[in-house]
Amino acid sequence: MDTAIYADILWEIRPKTVIEFGSNRGASALWLADQLTTFGVANAHVWSLDINPVTDLADPGRTFGFCEVANPAASLGPEDLQALPKRLLMIDDASPLGRHVLAVLQFIDLITDPGDYVIIEDDILNQLGWEEEYQGGPLEVLRVFLAGDTAREAGPRCQIYHACCDIFGRNVTLNPERYLRRL
Ligand SMILES: C[S@@+](CC[C@H](N)C(=O)[O-])C[C@H]1O[C@@H](n2cnc3c(N)ncnc32)[C@H](O)[C@@H]1O
Repeated sequence: MDTAIYADILWEIRPKTVIEFGSNRGASALWLADQLTTFGVANAHVWSLDINPVTDLADPGRTFGFCEVANPAASLGPEDLQALPKRLLMIDDASPLGRHVLAVLQFIDLITDPGDYVIIEDDILNQLGWEEEYQGGPLEVLRVFLAGDTAREAGPRCQIYHACCDIFGRNVTLNPERYLRRL
């Protein structure tokens, strides 16, 4: 389901830059770049970053690198990111620990512009009752972020992109209410 939802988003927003936190073996980055090529998005680039970066895949359309999501700005300077072509799609598929998701959201808040898109993966661990294991998980920090209590200023920063969450029925996705659009 979410593969189809992703394809829908890529087709609609045609991002020039995708930044993914959490590479594993690199499969999602390969897929994202291939989708963008298939959809004819010229010169799109996928940056896939991980605490254990992929080192055995090379391709002009994607770059793998290091990032510890506890402090993303240590690996990615906001000034470097400002130079990347827009529109930007950011995906957090790294650590679901509450404090890590918060660090990623604060970073996203700093570097995204209105019209950019954000996907937070793995959110259903709260619904599964696993939040203690994951320091609260992402649910509470996402609630605060969506309410607008961020480092930069008060007021909502993102809105839920319901058109994507609800393609197969209300929140029939593994990322319920976690497809977001920057205001
Ligand atoms: C679910 S996997 C990513 C899967 C990948 N996006 C895919 O679909 O093929 C999660 C990844 O997050 C990385 N990770 C875990 N903790 C991290 C941290 N603190 N900082 C950065 N990456 C982290 C792990 O090394 C792992 O590769």
